[in-house]
Amino acid sequence: MEYLMVLVISSSIKFATSVLSNDVPQAPVPIPKEKLLVLTVATEETDGFLRFMRSADYFNYTVKVLGMGEVWKGGDVGRSIGGGQKVRLLKNAMEALADQEDLVVLSVDSYDLIFAGGPEEILRKFQQANHKVLFAAEGLVWPDKQLADKYPLVRTGKRYLNSGGIIGYAPYINRIVSQWNLHDNDDDQLFYTKIYLDPLQRESLNMTLDHKCQIFQNLNGAVDEVLLKFGTDRVRVRNTAYDSLPVVVHGNGNTKMYLNYLANYVPNAWNYEHGCSHCDDDVVDFSQLKVGEYPNVLVGVFIEQPTPFLPEFFQRLLTLDYPKDKLKLFVHNNEVYHEKHIQRFWEENKNVLNSFKVVGPEENLSQGEARNMAMDLCRQDATCDYYFSIDSDVMLTNRQTLKLLIEQNRKIIGPLVTRHGKLWSNFWGALSLDGYYARSEDYVDIVQRKRVGVWNIPYMAHVYLVKGSALRNELKERNYFVLEKLDPDMALCRNARDMGVFMYITNRHEFGRLISTANYNISHYNNDLWQIFENPVDWKEKYIHSNYTRIFTDNYLEQPCPDVFWFAVFSEKACDELVEEMEHYGSWSGGKHQDKRIAGGYETVPTDDIHMKQIGFEKEWLHFIREFISPVTLKVFSGYYTKGYALMNFVVKYTPERQAYLRPHHDSSTFTINIALNNKGIDFQGGGCRFHRYNCSIESPRKGWSFMHPGRLTHLHEGLPTTGGTRYIAVSFIDP
Ligand SMILES: *[C@@H]1O[C@H](CO)[C@@H](O)[C@H](O)[C@H]1NC(C)=O
Ligand SMILES: *[C@@H]1O[C@H](CO)[C@@H](O)[C@H](O)[C@H]1NC(C)=O
Ligand SMILES: *[C@@H]1O[C@H](CO)[C@@H](O)[C@H](O)[C@H]1NC(C)=O
Ligand SMILES: *[C@@H]1O[C@H](CO)[C@@H](O)[C@H](O)[C@H]1NC(C)=O
Ligand SMILES: *[C@@H]1O[C@H](CO)[C@@H](O)[C@H](O)[C@H]1NC(C)=O
Ligand SMILES: *[C@@H]1O[C@H](CO)[C@@H](O)[C@H](O)[C@H]1NC(C)=O
Repeated sequence: MEYLMVLVISSSIKFATSVLSNDVPQAPVPIPKEKLLVLTVATEETDGFLRFMRSADYFNYTVKVLGMGEVWKGGDVGRSIGGGQKVRLLKNAMEALADQEDLVVLSVDSYDLIFAGGPEEILRKFQQANHKVLFAAEGLVWPDKQLADKYPLVRTGKRYLNSGGIIGYAPYINRIVSQWNLHDNDDDQLFYTKIYLDPLQRESLNMTLDHKCQIFQNLNGAVDEVLLKFGTDRVRVRNTAYDSLPVVVHGNGNTKMYLNYLANYVPNAWNYEHGCSHCDDDVVDFSQLKVGEYPNVLVGVFIEQPTPFLPEFFQRLLTLDYPKDKLKLFVHNNEVYHEKHIQRFWEENKNVLNSFKVVGPEENLSQGEARNMAMDLCRQDATCDYYFSIDSDVMLTNRQTLKLLIEQNRKIIGPLVTRHGKLWSNFWGALSLDGYYARSEDYVDIVQRKRVGVWNIPYMAHVYLVKGSALRNELKERNYFVLEKLDPDMALCRNARDMGVFMYITNRHEFGRLISTANYNISHYNNDLWQIFENPVDWKEKYIHSNYTRIFTDNYLEQPCPDVFWFAVFSEKACDELVEEMEHYGSWSGGKHQDKRIAGGYETVPTDDIHMKQIGFEKEWLHFIREFISPVTLKVFSGYYTKGYALMNFVVKYTPERQAYLRPHHDSSTFTINIALNNKGIDFQGGGCRFHRYNCSIESPRKGWSFMHPGRLTHLHEGLPTTGGTRYIAVSFIDP
C-alpha cells in the first residue's frame, strides 16, 4: 500500500499532465476469493489440526486436507529433519491443478498453525508482493546452516526460508514440487531452500520470501516481536518489528506453547467484548442423558503428604453431584497418619461407591508409580469413560465440578483452583526455556477470573479430568508420570504436550481452592485446630458456628442479663476437638490455690483447668479472639476497641466428683468470654452462671455459644454447681 502511494504522489509531480492517462499504475484487479485454495497435510486429526480447521472455517477458507489416515513416515519434524511426505502429497495433489493458471494455492502446515485473517486479505497482500511464489521467512537458517551465505541479502526483515507456508499460482507451485524425487523422511525445507537459492530458478519461477511477515508469522526466534492486538470482534497478532498484521501464525520449532497461548485469543476465541466464543462448542449435554447413562468415572485420590482437613476433603468428594454408582475410587495414601481417616471413610462409604481401592503406605509406592497405577486402571478398563485425578490438597467447593468438566468435552481439562487470597494456582500459563514456571501475560487475569474461559495451557497439576479414550489412544504409552528429573505432574504434562494433546484449564466457574500442606504439625491430637494461620478459610468453615456471621447481618445474638451478651461462635467440631485435645493432654490442675502456671504463683479463685499455653495453643487462641471475638465486642460495647490480649486462656472442667462450681468472684479482665463446650442434659446436669448485681442466672448454656460480659466491678458472678456428668467451658480474660 505504502509503495503504491509513493508512486502515485511522485508521478503526480513528475507527470502532472499525464495523471489522467494510463501511465499511473492502477491497483490491480483483486483476485476473487474463490480462487484461493488452501492445501494442508495432516495424517491425524490432532487437537492442533482441529484448531487449524476451526480458524479456517471461521474465515471461510476452502481447505483440502491431504494424507488423512495415512501412516506418517515424515520423521519427527519437531526435533529433527523430515517432512518429505508433505512434499510428495503436495506434488500428487498439484498434478491435477497444474493448468489452472489463475488459481492461487496456499500450502500450510496445520498441527501448529492458525489463521488470523481471511482469504481476501491474503490475496491482497500476495498481489502486493508482486511475485508468482512467496515463501514464509524466518530469522534462523534450518536445516543446513552452511547455506546461510547463499541467501540474498535483505536490509530489514527475515532472510531465510521456512516451508511451513507457501503461496503461489498453481502452475508455479507445481513446477516447484514436481521436482521432488526424494524419500518421505527427507527434509522438505531443505528441498525448497535449494530451489530458492538457485538464482536461475528464483528468477524463472519468480519466487521471493515474505521478509516482513505481511502474510506469514513464524514464531520461532520471533516470540518477542509479536503481541496480541484486541479488536472489537477479532483478535490479531501484531508484529512490532515490521508493524505488520500477519495472516498465518505458525508455532514452528519450540514455540508450540506460545502458539497455544495466542490461539486462546486469535482469531475470535476470546475478547474483551464477548468473552469466550468456543466454550460452548461440542459440549456434552447432560440434560439429554438419563442418570443411568452418565459416563463412568474413575476417581484417583492422592494423599502424598500429611494434609489438613482430610475428612472434609472426603466429604466434599462424596457430595459431588454425580451418581455414586458411576464412580470408582482409587486412593493412594502415603501417610500412616491418615490411615485412621481413610478407615473411617471406607467404613461409612464402602457400599456407596461402585468400587473402592486403597493403596497404603506399606506398599511403598513412589508418587509416580501410584499415579501410573491409577491411570492404568482406567486405561485398561474399556468401560472407564473418564479418569478424574485429585490431590488431597484440593478442596472442591463446587458440587457440579465433575459434570462441568465432562461437559467441556476435552481430552484433558482441569478446574482452576487457587490458594485463598493468593496468585498461587494449579496451572502455569507459560514455561521457561528449561521447562519450569514462567508467568504468561494473562496469568493473573485468569487466576482472578477477570478473563473467563477455557484456556489451553502448558502445565497443570493437583486436579484434572482425562478422557478414557485419550488414555487408550494418544496417551496409551504407560509410565506417564515417570520421566527422569521431572516430578510426576511435570512428566505427565511433558508427555501430553509431546503427543500433541492439548491441556485446558477452565475458570468459567468457581470450583474450589488449594489448601496449604506446609507447616502441618501432626504431633497434636486434633491437628487441624492449629491451622488457623495456614488455612484460615478451611479453619473457619470447620470450627466456626455456621450462624456466626448472622451476628452482624441480622443481629443474631441475645442479652440474657444486663450487659451479658450471648452468641454462637464455635461449631460442634470445635467444641468436641478442644475437649478431646485437653483430655488427651490430661493434666488438669485440680483447682488448687498454689499455681505455678501464673505470675505470683497464687490463684484466689482456682478452677480445675488446663491452660491453652500448656497444649501449645496460645498463639492460635489469641488469633481466634482477634478474628472472631473482637468484632462482636465492637458491636455490643460500641466505642470500645479491644486489644484482643489475654494472659489467662483455659478450659475448665466441672464434675461433682472434683470441682462442681465456682464461688462468686470478679475476673481480672476488661471483659470475659465463656464458651460452653458441651450440652446440658446430655453431657452434664446442673451448671450455668449467676450474676449477683442483677440477680440473674443463665441455667441452660448452649454448646458452642459464648457469653461475653465485663470482668470487674459490675459483674460479680459465680459458676453454678454441676450436679452430674462433666461440664467443659473455655474461658478468656481479655484486656486484663
Ligand atoms: C463465512 O460464510 C458465512 C456463510 O456464508 C457468512 O455468514 C460469514 O459472514 C462468513 N465469514 C466471513 C469471515 O467472511
Ligand atoms: C514476477 O511476477 C510479477 C507478476 O506476478 C511481475 O510483475 C514481475 O515482474 C515478476 N518478476 C520477475 C523478476 O520476473
Ligand atoms: C521404599 O522404597 C524406597 C525407594 O524405592 C527404598 O529406598 C526404601 O528402602 C523402601 N522402604 C521400604 C520400607 O521398603
Ligand atoms: C509440633 O508441635 C509439637 C507439640 O506442640 C512441638 O513440640 C513441635 O515443636 C512442633 N513442631 C514444629 C515443626 O513446629
Ligand atoms: C442457625 O440458625 C437457624 C435459624 O435460627 C437454625 O435453624 C439452625 O439450626 C442454626 N444452626 C446451627 C448450626 O445451630
Ligand atoms: C432473685 O430472683 C429469684 C428468682 O427470680 C427470686 O426468687 C429472689 O427473691 C431474687 N432475689 C433477690 C435478692 O431479689
